[in-house]
Amino acid sequence: MLVFATSDKGGTGRSVTCANMAYRRALLGDDVAYVDFDFGSPTATAVFELDGAPRSSGAGLHAYLRGRTGEPQQFDVWAHSRRKELRLRPATCGRLELFPGDPGGGEFPTDPAMTDRCAELFLRLEEEFDVTFVDLSAGRSYAIELALRSTARPELRETTVRWLVFHRWTRQHIVATAGLVHGDRGILAAGAAMGHDSADLAERVRYVRAAVPKPATLTGGEPRPAQAEWLVACDRELSDLAASHRLGRTALLGSVPLDPVLQWREQLLTDADALVSRIANRETVDALADLAHALTDAARWEVL
Ligand SMILES: Nc1ncnc2c1ncn2[C@@H]1O[C@H](COP(=O)(O)OP(=O)(O)O)[C@@H](O)[C@H]1O
Ligand SMILES: [Mg+2]
Repeated sequence: MLVFATSDKGGTGRSVTCANMAYRRALLGDDVAYVDFDFGSPTATAVFELDGAPRSSGAGLHAYLRGRTGEPQQFDVWAHSRRKELRLRPATCGRLELFPGDPGGGEFPTDPAMTDRCAELFLRLEEEFDVTFVDLSAGRSYAIELALRSTARPELRETTVRWLVFHRWTRQHIVATAGLVHGDRGILAAGAAMGHDSADLAERVRYVRAAVPKPATLTGGEPRPAQAEWLVACDRELSDLAASHRLGRTALLGSVPLDPVLQWREQLLTDADALVSRIANRETVDALADLAHALTDAARWEVL
């Protein structure tokens, strides 16, 4: 399965949520790849805390896609993570491998040879891993174009593909996200122009709301009654706005609550973070586990 993660804006929680989903799938026993296609800002090594890995020598995904190396670098997260809990890999876990971008590699326009190399990489990952997460640059990016072009190829037509579109729980994010998917130059229109069936592509799209504040509480103290009332009304208004922009409950894969640990630090949340040290909220870890499970829950991918 290829899981493309995208968002209209940066800072939506796409990378952190996706990295946690990848970790959770590996805990379930899947062999998992995490591929950093956020070309302008490749930061996945930080989220997985791969400081123990050899430094990227300019042979990452940028170099691979531009034909400067035949094989992109990959790192075993279990072996190289700075976090001790991760290095104590449970025996039942699957592989968890990170394919980093090259630091400072930047965005670059695509060309047909690059699409060939990208399709070849996705095919190889499909053979080797149960789930491959591809973290794409935000907005209408070259990374999205590359993902759409390569999955339109006949050799990738049979692959199970999911598109996860991340957004924050605000008016601007909801409207912009609807535009990214359904707009004139959005994913569905761009996909159709590259040979995808847009109805079929639309069925593969689900939304993830990240860092959603609970209306009942404000971080740093209980809300005053007037604040609580306003937050509940605001939440209701956002739900209506999301529904009217086709981002409502039926198209939602899941929501991740605003969490104090993730607010302060981009990292994987382990069960111990919620249950032993209790620095993270249990609801957050449950939401991440549920999202990971939802990828293969047929009921969540029924035709809308
Ligand atoms: N559930 C959450 N609660 C609180 N903060 C979050 C949550 N998810 C993500 N964040 C924080 O939001 C910021 C942006 O997240 P990131 O994953 O880097 O977004 P993107 O990849 O969309 O740019 C990071 O500082 C991250 O730790
Ligand atoms: Mg990111």
